[in-house]
Amino acid sequence: MTSIAKARVLVAIPMFAEVLAGLAQHVELDAPCGTDQAIDWAPEALAARLQGVQGMPGAAGILIAGSPRIDAALLAACPALRAVCSMAVGTNNIDLAACTAAGVLVSNAPDVLTETTADFGFALMMATARRITESEHFLRAGRWTHWSYDLFAGADVHGATLGVLGMGRIGSAIARRGALGFGMKVIYHNRSRLDAATEQQLGARWVSKQDLLREADHLVIVVPYSPASHHLVGAAELALMKPTATLTNIARGGVVDDAALAAALRERRLAAAGLDVFEGEPAVHPDLLTVPNVVLTPHIASASLRTRRAMADLAAANLVAVLGNGVHRGPPPTALNPDVLALSR
Ligand code: DGY
Repeated sequence: MTSIAKARVLVAIPMFAEVLAGLAQHVELDAPCGTDQAIDWAPEALAARLQGVQGMPGAAGILIAGSPRIDAALLAACPALRAVCSMAVGTNNIDLAACTAAGVLVSNAPDVLTETTADFGFALMMATARRITESEHFLRAGRWTHWSYDLFAGADVHGATLGVLGMGRIGSAIARRGALGFGMKVIYHNRSRLDAATEQQLGARWVSKQDLLREADHLVIVVPYSPASHHLVGAAELALMKPTATLTNIARGGVVDDAALAAALRERRLAAAGLDVFEGEPAVHPDLLTVPNVVLTPHIASASLRTRRAMADLAAANLVAVLGNGVHRGPPPTALNPDVLALSR
């Protein structure tokens, strides 16, 4: 019986043991992170690992998330690479055009994380409005001596105006929570408008970016990061917001100018912010660590166990569809540039 060689795949992030075991049935696995050893890949180290050593074939696939970065230089150094499969929905760490030009298939993990991420966005917005982190720090520090009418009084969420910047799948799921669950008035800004029926169902009204910033009591940012959305909310935009308003960012670091935001929070030109993503994360702008009126979380909006597993399964399914043998090969379920499969690399 002849055995068919398996394609080599680098799993560049820590991964569920079950997902690794499933992948190993289809590909030759290189999983240096195991289940829990994150590696901060330098570009040269990543290229070297993909190239393989001492007779090892170059890796044909890589499984990643919001990092490491996949760019033209890496692709040029790793000509055996044919598939870049991410378990994240955001793909700002992948140069899609360069991958397409090099004939490398790229997939991401949309849809499976929408509701979980919307749950978190809403929770972070509520924690921000109701000053949960600040009040917990106060309590833990033993500073709670008496009840007072204005102790950590925050802003109501129900009945307030929810402003959604970026009305894709996650933005729409947050809008639905606000409108149907909390009786919020929903306004949004997006390059393209929702269809009239969806706008009506959500009671959501498209407004200009300026009006969104001026009118929102609670602004939730859900736009993908790209050079065009870099510092989409900076000092000038923050200056338009009400001093009683809150800002929640679950999109990507870099969409908000973190230094300008910290200054606005410190000077109480903005009531509070909730941030799950940061410019240059995992580093956090030092000023954000010293202002009290901010809720900070380490990029966990999609982190329910069930959803993270679904994201990983989807990335693995894309990999197997491109690199598996025989009947396991097929159209990758969530490819971003499926046309490259017609041209083999
Ligand atoms: C995503 O899927 O894009 C999340 O932000 C995790 O990176």
